[in-house]
Amino acid sequence: METVLITGGTGLIGRALTTALLNRNYNVIILSRKINDNASMRNNLAYSIWNIEEQTLDANVIASADFIIHLAGTSVAGKRWTRKRKQEIINSRVNSSRLIVDSLKNIPNKVKAVVSASAIGWYGADGLTPAFSEASTGKPNPSSGGEGWGEVFEESDPPAKDFLGNTCKEWEESIDPVTQSGKRLVKLRTGIVLSKDGGALKEFLKPLRFGIATILGNGKQVISWIHIDDLVQLYIKAIENESMNGVYNAVSPNPVSNKELTIQLAKSRKRFYIPVHIPSFILKIILGEMSVEVLKSATVSAKKIVGTGFVFNFPTIVAALG
Ligand SMILES: NC(=O)c1ccc[n+]([C@@H]2O[C@H](COP(=O)([O-])OP(=O)(O)OC[C@H]3O[C@@H](n4cnc5c(N)ncnc54)[C@H](OP(=O)(O)O)[C@@H]3O)[C@@H](O)[C@H]2O)c1
Repeated sequence: METVLITGGTGLIGRALTTALLNRNYNVIILSRKINDNASMRNNLAYSIWNIEEQTLDANVIASADFIIHLAGTSVAGKRWTRKRKQEIINSRVNSSRLIVDSLKNIPNKVKAVVSASAIGWYGADGLTPAFSEASTGKPNPSSGGEGWGEVFEESDPPAKDFLGNTCKEWEESIDPVTQSGKRLVKLRTGIVLSKDGGALKEFLKPLRFGIATILGNGKQVISWIHIDDLVQLYIKAIENESMNGVYNAVSPNPVSNKELTIQLAKSRKRFYIPVHIPSFILKIILGEMSVEVLKSATVSAKKIVGTGFVFNFPTIVAALG
């Protein structure tokens, strides 16, 4: 039985991934900052504490792992992006990567591959983003690096020169040195994860309970999303398929506009709803700089991952929300 060590395995993606790995007969060890009293207990599942500030962990978990999946990082959403919060967002990822990199260098181990989360925040906003629209700037969005609208971001595109672009760059670079220890490295630039258990979908659903379908800004911004079950299968493929190497966009092949996602969600819940536009300026007041997260349009390509032979079980938004 092979062992998968998952950092941040207690989170939304980690919990779903753990269940799938256990069902596939892997041992799973979750590296966590603290053991939670109501942590899930199952055969072949263990927890181990690491201390990222002090850069310490149990050497045995590194020695016994065949694969490492690196998900740890404080949430990008939820709290305003103050200077302190931004530093936490970066540090939680970069410093945890450093502990993995150093552990693989210093502790004898048999780890074959490391798979790290990254995010489509790498790419920034495409030309459909309201703040960058032709009407307001008279020219295409500079961060999309190309001409025209609805441009599709691919893995070879440079990082955006904004907070999330910089965060993703530092995050990816911080885990790169594992290749110097001879490990295969896969980085999954993940889109908005759709899960009934939490994350963005839970937030989209809240106003629907009151019959309001909230369309953010002009609603035209493109959301590159992925169903959590597909993402979990992608992580498993990344550890099992030795030909996978480097960066892949973890997004479905059919991104949708914010308006389409909201309306489809309302329809899938078979509720009476009134569509209400929340103007961009209100979102900017409420969320501050973080409003870019909900107003930004990012059309991200799934071509490379589809090229590996990966088949999406939830390729369309109707299937994902059904
Ligand atoms: N969900 C999405 O839509 C999405 C999209 C793109 C990328 N991602 C990335 O994928 C990864 C997993 O996402 P998720 O949705 O499962 O996140 P999540 O639910 O927030 O879980 C992340 C885990 O990271 C650990 N963590 C939290 N704060 C930390 C800190 N300050 N230092 C070190 N570890 C910390 C926590 O584990 P412990 O408390 O057990 O230590 C937590 O369970 C994240 O890095 C996220 O940025 C997610």
